Amino acid sequence: MKRIIYLKILVHIVALLPFCWLSWQGYLLMNDQSNELTANPIQFIHHFTGNWAIRFILLGLAITPLRKIFGWNRLIQFRRMIGLYAFFYVTLHLSNFVILDYYFDWAAILKEIIKRPAITFGMVAILLLIPLAITSTKGWIRRLQKNWIKLHKLIYGIGILAVIHNIMMVKADIFMPMIHITLLALLLGYRFAFRERQA
Ligand code: HEM
Repeated sequence: MKRIIYLKILVHIVALLPFCWLSWQGYLLMNDQSNELTANPIQFIHHFTGNWAIRFILLGLAITPLRKIFGWNRLIQFRRMIGLYAFFYVTLHLSNFVILDYYFDWAAILKEIIKRPAITFGMVAILLLIPLAITSTKGWIRRLQKNWIKLHKLIYGIGILAVIHNIMMVKADIFMPMIHITLLALLLGYRFAFRERQA
């Protein structure tokens, strides 16, 4: 029991490291000190938060295959945290867009969401993540029972929308989006194959 608590604290620390690093770089920038945010900090933050959001989505999807293949059943205790960190980084990503990029210009934001399919995909993904984040508590799991499992299957669609958004947004180097697509294909493919074998 104590080991799980320590491990959970460790996961929180590791998951918050990118955020702490980014905040530190932001602090350096605001104090005119040398930092890693490049000549275009807003774009850098888009990339940084977007990539961490996708990593946590993929990590959350990896829990079931890892449990089934290696028998690491305790991993289930970290799935909720990982899902919530995906939501956390995606919220930072959206906030960067709304606050720093568009400075609450709602008309321009709406225009971008409608006009650019890549942004539309991202927006749908984030909207679908909201009910998953809200219903991640033990109370909701109890209340929704079997419907909770059905609802949380939305994460497969969210993963697909997120990688489509990723590949469409990237300007030159498609290496990372391709890694994300490959990992998602493996994770979803594993589920499909496993379901076929069980049928
Ligand atoms: C689940 C939802 C989302 C995920 C996982 C996600 C992830 C990503 C990733 C991985 C990138 C590419 C990073 C790179 O090029 O290295 C990206 C780029 C971007 N995303 Fe998202 N995103 C999501 C939703 C959104 C939403 C809702 C918006 C705005 C309404 C948005 C706006 C952007 C913009 C503007 C860029 C491009 C930045 C640039 O190259 O200048 N994203 N996103």
